[in-house]
Amino acid sequence: MKGIHLRCDRDGSTYDASEVRYRSTLGEPLDVVHDLTKLAGLTTETFDARLRSRNPLDRSGVWRFRELIAPIPDKDVVTRREGNTNLYDTPRVASWVGLDALQLKHEGENPTGSFKDRGMTAAISLAKSLGMSRVACASTGNTSASMAAYAAQAGMQGIVFIPDGKIAYGKLSQALAYGARTLQIEGDFDDAMTLVQEVCDAEGIYLVNSINPFRIEGQKAIGFEILQDLGWKVPDWIVLPGGNLGNNSALAKGMQELYALGLIDRLPRIAVIQAAGANPLFTAWTAGNDVVPVKADTLASAIKIGAPVSWRKSLRGIAACNGVVAQATDQEILDAKAQVDAAGIGAEPASCATVAGIKMLVKQGVIAHDAHVVGILTGHLLKDPDLVVGYHQGTLKDFDLTYANPPTRISSTLAAVQAALED
Ligand code: F0G
Repeated sequence: MKGIHLRCDRDGSTYDASEVRYRSTLGEPLDVVHDLTKLAGLTTETFDARLRSRNPLDRSGVWRFRELIAPIPDKDVVTRREGNTNLYDTPRVASWVGLDALQLKHEGENPTGSFKDRGMTAAISLAKSLGMSRVACASTGNTSASMAAYAAQAGMQGIVFIPDGKIAYGKLSQALAYGARTLQIEGDFDDAMTLVQEVCDAEGIYLVNSINPFRIEGQKAIGFEILQDLGWKVPDWIVLPGGNLGNNSALAKGMQELYALGLIDRLPRIAVIQAAGANPLFTAWTAGNDVVPVKADTLASAIKIGAPVSWRKSLRGIAACNGVVAQATDQEILDAKAQVDAAGIGAEPASCATVAGIKMLVKQGVIAHDAHVVGILTGHLLKDPDLVVGYHQGTLKDFDLTYANPPTRISSTLAAVQAALED
């Protein structure tokens, strides 16, 4: 493939990007390296001009930045015009977290309801370009929903490995509805991740988890689009949740590339927020050690991951962007979610780790109250309806349901309505 190659950051070994390969001979996940000298003429005006175009690639919030994604022929691109998500001003949430202002980029507004569509359009397009007919992933739910949709569109068989009974209903229903072969395995996400790699190797199936370096390339576009939304003015902080750690690795990589190309004048700081019950990155970053896998447990099921695949890339990106890692308890995530939801924005639990983390980092003085902060909400509120209903109806046990808005059962008379509204 012209203009890119694959590289292992640990031993510097390089590989042809047309080869189906996810790890180096050392076993390390690979990076896509773009020959930036060939892109020296690229300007932000190129990207901005595409906002007025009707070309489907320009209309995609990923392929609009195609020079920095993957050099494949236009005919191989499988796109649902992903991205183009809103960056909301959220004064109510800002005041709750102690900031003068806060902007939230809602990646739940993607075609299948999560940020995964950005990485998936890249991985499935690569699969098409490489002539693959079957694709697979392990998932806590959103990756499988996204892969199922893009595989269906591309006419490929999608095979998903999910932890039995442990993914949110909205996500399971998507995988089934889009026609993916859905394998519910005994065990958790980490077990599913190990198994899917073995199966893909044995069966020659294309693996589209974020260990696939092209998933990372697509996901970089969240950062590109945030900057485009802001007229290429770099915010002080970008804050996002961390699970398998592909997304924050991608964000940092994309920012470094824009900076190297001279398209931005500084790097934003990055804050990665983990659930306290699934916090191997937080523990490693705090101690300055390598990541040691943990048994994950959190109600934010999307980030219930104890052995993140991309941890080395993640730590590398955090260091490059002068970033920090924090953790939030399930109670803090629930409280933050209630605020994000009640602001009329809404997001799934894992997304709201972002807001819980911002609140904590402001309190600790790590983020200044007048800093320009962009938080990423990674998934839609309707992904996990059971948790929402449980919170508001009071059936979610062992938590303070401080902001619950329970429904009231009344008889169908005017008087009963009036009494209820006066209450
Ligand atoms: N937020 C949501 C809503 C997610 O679905 C995920 C990951 C993350 C955050 C964490 O992103 O893994 O790049 O650090 N979900 C994966 C899945 C693992 O299978 O859908 P990450």
